[in-house]
Amino acid sequence: MTAKRAGKKKSVLVVGGGGREHTLVWSFRRSPQVGPIFAAPGNAGTAEIAENIPVGPGDIEALVKFARKERVDLTVVGPEAPLAAGIVDRFRAAKLAIFGPTKQAARIESSKIFAKKLALEAGIPTAPAEIFDDFEAAKRYIDISGAPCVVKADGLAAGKGVTVAMTEEEAHAALQRTMAEKEFGAAGERVLVEDYISGEEASILAVTDGERAAVMIPSQDHKRLKDGDGGPNTGGMGAYAPAPVIDGKMLNSITETIIEPAIAALSDSGAPYQGCLYAGLIVDFEGPKLLEFNCRFGDPEVQAMLPLLSDDLYEVCASTAAGKLEFNRFAWRPGAAVSVVAASKGYPGEYERGFAVKGLDEVGKMEDVIVFHAGTAKEDDSVVTAGGRVLAVTALGVNVADAVKRAYDAIGRIKFPGIYYRRDIGQKALARSK
Ligand code: GLY
Repeated sequence: MTAKRAGKKKSVLVVGGGGREHTLVWSFRRSPQVGPIFAAPGNAGTAEIAENIPVGPGDIEALVKFARKERVDLTVVGPEAPLAAGIVDRFRAAKLAIFGPTKQAARIESSKIFAKKLALEAGIPTAPAEIFDDFEAAKRYIDISGAPCVVKADGLAAGKGVTVAMTEEEAHAALQRTMAEKEFGAAGERVLVEDYISGEEASILAVTDGERAAVMIPSQDHKRLKDGDGGPNTGGMGAYAPAPVIDGKMLNSITETIIEPAIAALSDSGAPYQGCLYAGLIVDFEGPKLLEFNCRFGDPEVQAMLPLLSDDLYEVCASTAAGKLEFNRFAWRPGAAVSVVAASKGYPGEYERGFAVKGLDEVGKMEDVIVFHAGTAKEDDSVVTAGGRVLAVTALGVNVADAVKRAYDAIGRIKFPGIYYRRDIGQKALARSK
């Protein structure tokens, strides 16, 4: 990594208001190069260390206007929806620096069919799949091929468009919701029916300027609501890093067989990719295979990963946005980090909001413990719940076992009515070390 650039402090705009965006703001705050930070719209956590602006991630014109008026040096986009809607193209047309892929390149996440074709054509290890735009044809295929299988809506569906169906009935029900009842609107007009692969999941995030890539430490999300990976899918109930399911040798192989071919294929397709490329993987007896690509930082993975990053995230994102990524490996603190998400009772279904969150001051004083807010808001002087996933408590430790202990000690001090969190974040890593 190059020496820190001298001169005037840089201003950063982070687009989004969840736990990932609080983590990005927190990481930029650590950079000696960064001065003003804005979060659009942010949450009660970002308000403590940045200035929240009342603009949603979908209001691209208002974001351009704000970035111009405030002469923002770098905009970093958290969620996928504005990327899929073309925020990067619009900022670039306005000559504003922005970290993230263009609309064309973001199809790696916004079209599961585009991503699957690209992966298969590039020889990336992934499950075979069939594509359908006809409901009856898809039903007949499931009748013949059977279960388990994975039914995926082609477009963005707020994380709800993928069903891992263990029976034919579940596959038919997913197809019915997606294609016949149009639960996800146009995003479900086409579907993929993919072979099911069993194994352990892991997330690999790489930062790329379209040519060069730097791969981050492996992490693991916990997508299901309940302990032991039971219950419904969620936006993620916790994460840890580094994830030992991916060792150094496997990480090199993933870089060579998944990350680099995807970046090259995107470039060859006329949509060079800049930003964070997220590969969701499953490791089975044959090795790692691609489940999906995402066009952004992972949430909650970065809540565990970025507190371990020794490099300056501003330097990383600014050099990427300029198309000049100047390094190919990151420096990390030794040890591990574990992040446990506290959710509202009822999440991912209906839940109540507006409960006061207690214990934040006490936990805020704990060493190497950070509270990343997600669904929170400020009401008078109190922090109140305002979303399904309310916050995540991240703890660093000498290893995963130590970080688990410290994270649960800390989250036990956070109180709000109906607080719910999984008790087994990090257990797969601990099982491997036994
Ligand atoms: N952790 C899953 C995601 O960011 O999509």
